[in-house]
Amino acid sequence: MKPLPEPNEVSVRVMAASLNPADYKFSKEALGPIFGIDFSGVIESVGAEVHGFSSGDEVWGIAPGCLADFAIANPDKITKKEPVWDWVHAAAVPTAYLAAYQALGRQKRKKWSDATVVVIGASGGTGIATVQLAKAFGASVIVGICSAAKAQFVLQQGASRIVDYNDSNAMKDAEDSTSADLVVDCASASGGGEDYFSWSAKLVQTSGGICVALSSEKNETWAELMTNGTAAENGSEVMLVQQNAEDLRVIQALLRQANMLPVVGKELPFSKRDIDTAYDALKSRRALGKIVINMHEHPV
Ligand SMILES: NC(=O)c1ccc[n+]([C@@H]2O[C@H](COP(=O)([O-])OP(=O)(O)OC[C@H]3O[C@@H](n4cnc5c(N)ncnc54)[C@H](OP(=O)(O)O)[C@@H]3O)[C@@H](O)[C@H]2O)c1
Repeated sequence: MKPLPEPNEVSVRVMAASLNPADYKFSKEALGPIFGIDFSGVIESVGAEVHGFSSGDEVWGIAPGCLADFAIANPDKITKKEPVWDWVHAAAVPTAYLAAYQALGRQKRKKWSDATVVVIGASGGTGIATVQLAKAFGASVIVGICSAAKAQFVLQQGASRIVDYNDSNAMKDAEDSTSADLVVDCASASGGGEDYFSWSAKLVQTSGGICVALSSEKNETWAELMTNGTAAENGSEVMLVQQNAEDLRVIQALLRQANMLPVVGKELPFSKRDIDTAYDALKSRRALGKIVINMHEHPV
């Protein structure tokens, strides 16, 4: 059934939706009964108080419950889609690229052309987004921390060098030799016992740079995050993504100017079985880029 928007909302026909760990980490009370946060699609109808969007507009952004044929979106959290992206690539962007963009925005000490950025978990959804956007900003050195199997791909997306986190000697060498202006930790506290908080802190010890982490296993950190959107933990600033259309527009322009496409590692059709397969792949913590459900050939 097509949902009707409130006066300050739009309804969209969903063409593609991407998966995020938040879908299964947060409770259904917090996110609603239907999974999905990130979407691309076509506006069906526009609430009476909404300006700047019309029915038929092609858009992408945030719409909780978007793993469905139709969803409701807040117009402050969507933007119009540029033709250069297809539905699947547009749906891959919102949360991962917002997190990457907002984490990189915390680096204010240096010109990007002098800055060293370390990305932990560089091959996953947020990690590869951070590598791409750091490259688009012109960061001098981008060190990607990922498995050897994904090294070539992460280099192709803009990393200057790779450190395999399974190689303890290489990790120790990197710890001793890297002076980072920004460490973006997309791996700690992500369900597999990953913990890079102390390691990250060592990389900025002499540089005065900052560490940003995207997750925590501590209740007190989450309590602070939910109140302030940011929290301090073990030398890192843990951040919560701020969903807003202005940043979505900037990200779209940045990727266009850098001639980069959002990274889609897996694309599956919209069926119960394929969605289960997609979440199994995401929960395995081995995703390459984003996993996207393509819904636009699904009959409504
Ligand atoms: N705070 C926020 O607002 C916010 C926003 C977005 C995401 N997040 C959080 O950020 C984290 C990452 O999200 P995501 O979407 O990027 O997840 P993802 O796509 O599932 O990340 C998978 C990646 O994690 C890497 N990985 C797994 N174990 C690792 C380890 N021990 N060391 C280094 N890398 C490891 C894997 O790399 P290899 O395959 O190379 O091993 C894989 O590429 C999640 O906890 C998510 O909830 C938070």
